Amino acid sequence: MRTYRLILSGLGNVGRSFLTIMQSQESLLAEQYGVALRVVAAVDSGGAAIDALGLDPGAILALKQERQSVAAMPGCGQAGMGPVELAAHIEADILLEATPVNLVNGQPGLDTARTALRRGMHVVLANKGPLALAYAELAGLSDMGAASADRGNPRDWPALRFSACVGGSLPTIAIGRRDLAGARIQRVEAVLNGTTQGILRAMEQGTSYADALAEMQRRGLAETDPSLDVEGWDSANKLTIVANAVLRRPTTLADVAVTGITALTADDLRAAMARGERIVLLCLAERLGDDIRLSVRPTPLPLDHPLARMRADEMGVVYFTDISGIQTATTRETDPVPTAAAMLRDVLDIAMR
Ligand SMILES: NC(=O)c1ccc[n+]([C@@H]2O[C@H](COP(=O)([O-])OP(=O)(O)OC[C@H]3O[C@@H](n4cnc5c(N)ncnc54)[C@H](OP(=O)(O)O)[C@@H]3O)[C@@H](O)[C@H]2O)c1
Repeated sequence: MRTYRLILSGLGNVGRSFLTIMQSQESLLAEQYGVALRVVAAVDSGGAAIDALGLDPGAILALKQERQSVAAMPGCGQAGMGPVELAAHIEADILLEATPVNLVNGQPGLDTARTALRRGMHVVLANKGPLALAYAELAGLSDMGAASADRGNPRDWPALRFSACVGGSLPTIAIGRRDLAGARIQRVEAVLNGTTQGILRAMEQGTSYADALAEMQRRGLAETDPSLDVEGWDSANKLTIVANAVLRRPTTLADVAVTGITALTADDLRAAMARGERIVLLCLAERLGDDIRLSVRPTPLPLDHPLARMRADEMGVVYFTDISGIQTATTRETDPVPTAAAMLRDVLDIAMR
């Protein structure tokens, strides 16, 4: 049995779901992978808890249930200690980052990821902010960077994984990087934001925009700042990651033309339906000559399009390729557990490396 020491940064919807599935999958991980996971440090906005012998996931969940900081944990709490300090000083194998997206400066997730990678620690991100702002830098500190005479074999570098950043547990990155290896991806169409998909489908059924958004927040699926969802920036972040990691086009958020759903009305949605179309918030990457044009915008699709057939709680991606056909994947997610499951699969990917 190999034990992996984890630092868990962020104990909200996703971080708590990760702790829950650590417990529910413990015997499966041991039996099928010979892997045991031990959380040696956890941190929220109030501070940290640290125990080299392993924190009890159930005790952390109980504290968060009572809306307390993990810093209140008897004997091992450290009020005011932040994730960057943990990344700098705690001995661990893998750092998991699930703090809120910050598109102003990426913090605290960006410095946390940088610090961990520089120490040789593997990093698993659910927070896509650091990638949207600094993909090239983080890839260069990790095994996601290209091989070169200077840096040698990328396999010798710490792993950076982020499958939870691009549509919950939808295997967007794995399909694009691994399963379509050798093919030229000519076009990517995707619906990668569950909150807006839920809102648009609910509005079609007569629910108001405000009620539909409130329901997505209640389920823990909306961003901490939901304007990132409805104004299209969450989708744009994800498309930026796909462009960098799958299409290998050096890309920043500024390269994506972004329109959100806030100007759409129920009448617009119903008029589209009457024409035989459904409006989705579409992430689109299309090759134009030597470049790739990137956009996020509400887009009417014919009702038989795989992304138009999706329900309120589904996300999906369609890759159009030259030699591997047209590959479609969808996921149905009603809570943040599948996102935590994507972090777990990244941990196992690192363990099996
Ligand atoms: N929710 C989803 O379905 C989903 C899906 C895919 C990806 N994600 C990504 O996963 C990340 C977390 O999402 P979430 O829904 O779990 O968010 P959340 O419920 O708002 O939780 C955020 C967590 O981060 C902590 N935090 C905030 N600022 C901090 C700081 N400066 N230092 C340390 N901890 C800090 C919060 O502390 P407190 O507990 O003290 O408030 C909380 O525990 C986000 O980046 C999001 O984009 C979420």
